[in-house]
Amino acid sequence: MERIPDDDSVKKRIRAMCDRVERIQAEGVYFYNMPVTELRGGSRVVVDGRTMTMFASYSYLGLIGHPRINAAAKAAIDKYGTGTHGVRTLAGSLTLHRELEATIARFKGAEDAVTFTSGYATNLTTVSTLVGRHDVVFSDKLNHASIVDGCLLSGAKFVRFRHNDMEDLRQKLAEAPKGAGRLVVADAVFSMDGDVINLPGLVRLCREYNAWLMIDEAHSLGVLGATGRGIEEHFGMPGVIDIQMGTLSKTIPSVGGYIAGRSDLIKYLRHQSRAYIFSAALPPAQAAAALEGFHVIEDEPWRVQAVQRNARHFIEAIRERGLDTLQTRTAIVPVLCGTDERAFQMTAEAQRQDIFVLPVVSPAVPEGQARLRATVTAAHTAEEIDQASEVFAQAGRKVGVI
Ligand SMILES: Cc1ncc(COP(=O)(O)O)c(C=O)c1O
Repeated sequence: MERIPDDDSVKKRIRAMCDRVERIQAEGVYFYNMPVTELRGGSRVVVDGRTMTMFASYSYLGLIGHPRINAAAKAAIDKYGTGTHGVRTLAGSLTLHRELEATIARFKGAEDAVTFTSGYATNLTTVSTLVGRHDVVFSDKLNHASIVDGCLLSGAKFVRFRHNDMEDLRQKLAEAPKGAGRLVVADAVFSMDGDVINLPGLVRLCREYNAWLMIDEAHSLGVLGATGRGIEEHFGMPGVIDIQMGTLSKTIPSVGGYIAGRSDLIKYLRHQSRAYIFSAALPPAQAAAALEGFHVIEDEPWRVQAVQRNARHFIEAIRERGLDTLQTRTAIVPVLCGTDERAFQMTAEAQRQDIFVLPVVSPAVPEGQARLRATVTAAHTAEEIDQASEVFAQAGRKVGVI
C-alpha cells in the first residue's frame, strides 16, 4: 500500500477501523470472530478449548446437527456432488431446488417461492428488483442492513419511518406522490431488540394507501405462531403479506434465503432479479438440509413450543433480577448494559463463567444502549436458562449496571 498516499480517503477509512479493532484487542475485550472448535449439539459449544453454554445462537429450534438433516445433506452430496454448475437459469435447476421451493410455499401458505444463496442477497435483490426510480420505499428505522442496502440500491425514494410507529408511517405514505409505486418493508422480529412489528397496523395502512407489504421473517420463522409458521400465524392473519421473506440460516440450519408469495411475483423475481440470474444456486447439500429442516419442524412440533416456553422463561428470569430487556417478547433477548465499556465487561464476566454471549455496541445500536445480545433456543434446559440469568445479574452488579 506504500504507493497510495497517507491522506487517501480509502486508506484513511481502512486505518481508522483497524485502529479501533486493535485498540479493543489490546484492552483484552475483543469478542468477535471467536474460534469455535466444536458444536456439541444441544446448547453446548467449544470455544478456544472451553465448553460453554451457547446463548448467541440463531438456531432457534436447536436443529443444527439434527441427524435427519445431516443425513439429507450427505445423501445430496452423494447424488448431486457439491456444486451446481452455475446459475440455475442457464446451467439447469436441480429438482431439489424446486422441491425446496414448493415446500417453503406450502409451509408459508403461499402460491410459490424462490430461493437465493443468502438472506442478505435475498433482501438486496428483492427490494431493488421490485422498486425503482419513480417509486417510494418505506422502511422501519430498525430494519436489518440488508433491507437498507436493497432500498439504497433500488434508486427509489427511500423513506424511513419511526420504529413500529404507525402514525409516522401513515403521514409518510400520505405524502408520497400520486402514481408512485409504494413498498412498505419491515422485519417481523427486530434483530437487535427482539420486539414484534405491528402487522395489523401495517396491513391496514398498506390497504388504505395501495402499498405492497414485504416482511422479513429471519427471526420469526419457527419462533412465532403455534406451529412456527411465523408472523401471519402469530396474529391470525393468513395471506396478508404480499412478499414473505425469510432466511435458511437461522431456524433452518443451512444457508440461503427465500421469497414466498403469488406465483406471478415469484416468476417475475426468477426472471428479473440479479441475484438469481447472475449468481450460482444453493449447493445441493445446503438445499437438502433446508428441505429436511422444514420437514423436521412439521414432524417435531414440540420444538416450537419449547422455544416459546424458553423465551418466556428467560425474559422473566432476567427481568426479575432487575435487568432491562427492552420490549422483547421473542427468543432475542437484549440485556441492556449502557456504555460500550460495560457491555464488554459484562461479556467478559459471562464468558468467564462459561456463558457464550456477545456484546452489541454503537454504532450497531444507539450510543448508551450497548447490550448483551442473548438468544434462547428450544435446546436450552430450564436450569441453563436460570444459570445464565444469574450469571448476567452477577455481572451486572459487578460492573454497576444494576
Ligand atoms: C432480519 C435479518 N434479515 C436478513 C438477514 C440476513 O440473513 P443471512 O445471514 O441468512 O444472510 C439477517 C441476518 O442476521 C437478519 O437478522
